[in-house]
Amino acid sequence: MKFIVCETPKEIGEKIGQEIIALVQKNPKAILGLATGSSPLPVYDVLANAYQAGKVSFRETKSFNLDEYINPPFEEATYRYFMKENLFSRVDIRLENTHFPSERNPEEYDGEIAAAGGVDFQVLGIGRDGHIGFNEPNTPFDSRTHITPLTESTREANARFFHSLEETPHEAVTMGLGTIMKSRHIVLIASDLSKVDAIRSLLKGQKDLLWPATVLVDHPSCEIFVTKDVYEAAKQ
Ligand code: F6R
Repeated sequence: MKFIVCETPKEIGEKIGQEIIALVQKNPKAILGLATGSSPLPVYDVLANAYQAGKVSFRETKSFNLDEYINPPFEEATYRYFMKENLFSRVDIRLENTHFPSERNPEEYDGEIAAAGGVDFQVLGIGRDGHIGFNEPNTPFDSRTHITPLTESTREANARFFHSLEETPHEAVTMGLGTIMKSRHIVLIASDLSKVDAIRSLLKGQKDLLWPATVLVDHPSCEIFVTKDVYEAAKQ
């Protein structure tokens, strides 16, 4: 696990965006693992700009998103919609090559990922409670794609995408921690001070079931991108 400290979220977006562009230029059939939320938005801007400038094409690329809400109150709240708005409609990826876990058959998602060849490059955000995907505290480190209740902390953090906390979904379907660990390369983004405790748990370098992202300490190729303010506060 390597920490990369950047001045701004934009710098994180630039660095990760360039890694993905280099990968897709080298292997147009690369399999991307993608996250929603605020953290990866600067990455998606870099990818969209590079595509629009003719520097990269995602025509042969496949994607597998980390998670999806169960019973969101309106279509615009789904993660599929979020990805269309923020990335898919801005590049030439084919929608039939984009995948999301489904509440109907969560157990099939790991097999679909494996059949496609496995995730080459996984993008992660991190919850204030240390979740990755929607693997909340105490999720087994070897878990596969599954349905999970969302903690109150996560619902409160995500209520900004809904009209009220009451409307915010209670459940989601998510890749498991074991699923995520199979990715060949992983980048995690923490660019908001609400993530300081979660980053502190990673800096300790030891696995702790209460902090799900600590599963990453065992990954052979994982980069943790943090803004300077988050890093400095987490070190204290
Ligand atoms: C989203 C996801 C979540 C988010 C996390 C951080 O697909 O899997 O784990 O990455 O909740 O969200 P933001 O980036 O909005 O702070």
